Amino acid sequence: MPFQYYFSRKQLHATPFSAKMGMILPRRMPSRLLVTGGCGFIGSNFIHHILNSFCDIEFDSCDDDHVLYSNNYQEMEIDLLNMDKLTYAADPDNLKIVSDYSGYFFEQCDISDYARVIEIFENFKPECVIHFAAESHVDRSIESGYEFMVSNVLGTHVLLEASRKVGVSLFIHISTDEVYGSTDHDSFSENSHLNPSSPYSSSKASSDLVALSHHNTYGTPVIVTRCTNNFGPRQHPEKLVPKVIQLASQDCKIPVYGSGMQVRDWLYVKDHCQAILDIILKGEVGQIYNIAGRNEINNLEMIDSILRRIGKSSELIEHTNDRQGHDFRYSVDDGKLRSLGWEPRISFEDGLDYTIADTINRLGLGKK
Ligand SMILES: NC(=O)c1ccc[n+]([C@@H]2O[C@H](COP(=O)([O-])OP(=O)(O)OC[C@H]3O[C@@H](n4cnc5c(N)ncnc54)[C@H](O)[C@@H]3O)[C@@H](O)[C@H]2O)c1
Repeated sequence: MPFQYYFSRKQLHATPFSAKMGMILPRRMPSRLLVTGGCGFIGSNFIHHILNSFCDIEFDSCDDDHVLYSNNYQEMEIDLLNMDKLTYAADPDNLKIVSDYSGYFFEQCDISDYARVIEIFENFKPECVIHFAAESHVDRSIESGYEFMVSNVLGTHVLLEASRKVGVSLFIHISTDEVYGSTDHDSFSENSHLNPSSPYSSSKASSDLVALSHHNTYGTPVIVTRCTNNFGPRQHPEKLVPKVIQLASQDCKIPVYGSGMQVRDWLYVKDHCQAILDIILKGEVGQIYNIAGRNEINNLEMIDSILRRIGKSSELIEHTNDRQGHDFRYSVDDGKLRSLGWEPRISFEDGLDYTIADTINRLGLGKK
């Protein structure tokens, strides 16, 4: 039977919890979505995931794995506006196939441009904003943090102002586990204090606080998500996984910061997208949700897994000076999210196989 929504349009931002029945009832799926940063890695996967879950769209081979997500949601019309500045990190090809869908709209726009953002919001009148857009590369933030503060902090504030002006029903602010900083032993809960190390993570922590302050002051229906490291199709080749695939495929040396023993928790990107969708349908407004893969490995183990799969030797690994302020281990407790019924569906092994195949294909690495 198709998945049903129990809440009416007016109740979209109500807490989806039935005390009487002692269970969580999903909200109605909003039909006017505004996604920021949709031409980037996670944003583009999210747009594919939404249109694939709710609309009858044919996908390219890059989305074969959607069979793993036979969500059985009731089919519905969705208008989705993607607002992206198209920085170096964006790849419009990520959404090539989606652009044929009549409910898909694109605006090239810097989220820190107040007048333009307001104009777009007033014209489109989104019900729900899913805010991915950010400068996202830690190394670049260490070289120069200015763009990170403008896009990540000011940009988030501008979007919240626009959301308040048009009265959006839900604002999902996509953040990161990096805001908590490093931990040797335990896992951080949503109540742990923020202790970011890099200009990137401090800009994200700042934007989380801006978003939550809009909820506290104006009642804007904000939910903050903090996810661990993602891997999957369409990631920019400057990031660890695609970078290792690219260098190894070309028999080039693979630089590894310091000992390479830094621990990260990896989640396949489609599982992150499904977690966001579950939070749209069942998350409580004003709350923060950690999202974890529960798959902690160190960087050397991740690199070895890739090298093994593409038949290359670990002799390609070359240790370099450690990154400044490099966090040793990220770890979050996502029990609160799992109580909504979410859990990852794609194993690390399957996800990595799929990511390698996609990256080799997309970057043309198989060609001699
Ligand atoms: N990649 C991860 O492992 C990870 C993990 C947890 C959280 N996150 C968060 O998820 C979000 C998306 O990450 P990603 O890896 O897809 O990033 P990405 O760098 O691949 O994509 C970012 C997108 O945002 C756009 N953008 C940047 N600045 C903009 C601006 N001022 N105005 C409009 N658009 C702008 C870029 O053009 C790009 O399309 C970020 O907020 C990031 O902090 C990422």
